[in-house]
Amino acid sequence: MGANFITGTGTDIGKTWLACALLRQWRGEGRRPAAIKPVLSGFDSQRPQASDAGALLAALGRDVSPAELDAIAPWRFAPPLSPDMAAALEGRRIDFDELVEFSRQAVAAPDRPLLIEGVGGVMSPLNERNTVRDWIAASGLPCVLVAGSYLGSLSHTLTALEALQKVGAGVTAIAINESPDSIVALDATLESLSSHAGGISLVAITRRSPQSGIARLAALLA
Ligand SMILES: Nc1ncnc2c1ncn2[C@@H]1O[C@H](COP(=O)(O)OP(=O)(O)OP(=O)(O)O)[C@@H](O)[C@H]1O
Ligand SMILES: [Mg+2]
Repeated sequence: MGANFITGTGTDIGKTWLACALLRQWRGEGRRPAAIKPVLSGFDSQRPQASDAGALLAALGRDVSPAELDAIAPWRFAPPLSPDMAAALEGRRIDFDELVEFSRQAVAAPDRPLLIEGVGGVMSPLNERNTVRDWIAASGLPCVLVAGSYLGSLSHTLTALEALQKVGAGVTAIAINESPDSIVALDATLESLSSHAGGISLVAITRRSPQSGIARLAALLA
């Protein structure tokens, strides 16, 4: 089974939602997936179940306990900001090598599908030197780029793709997670990206019936 990095064109694009849907899909197929969300900002220790790590643990059927949170999301910060800023406000700093090593250890159990949710978008800073893109490149894992169908998403998506390709990161698929209330049709977004995204698999996730896209993506990644 493969390990995949889940990144996105930016924050709030649906990385966690999609990761949870994939985990549930795999569990429904009798697989035993794993997931980590090593870096988490905006963490409210009074409501851990509302965090990305809490959502992933629930989708995995695991408790949202301090030990489980430490196991999948050790770098947790309260400020709802980019990781470099959130860490600095807490007088901390994300050590890039430690982060890469933590991810590597999660990949060491290869008999199950693993998702590593990044943080923010492809170029979100982790500290004063490194971005999420560096983390993806250092992990050597293929990634899923989660994008939207809002007006402006085409440029955001192609820019993120270019940034990933520049460092040799493999992009297994672009998941176009339909943006609510967009004036741009999902099909039109799909058609334009199929011309510009160089043969990369495109998976549309519609709001009305997301299941077929999720099942297709789950099969692509497994
Ligand atoms: N396809 C979808 N259907 C319904 N709700 C969705 C869908 N995609 C995303 N959402 C909702 O949109 C919000 C943002 O999604 P999500 O938290 O998955 O984004 P994210 O990319 O993980 O954000 P972050 O950068 O904070 O990690 C959440 O409330 C989520 O439940
Ligand atoms: Mg998330």
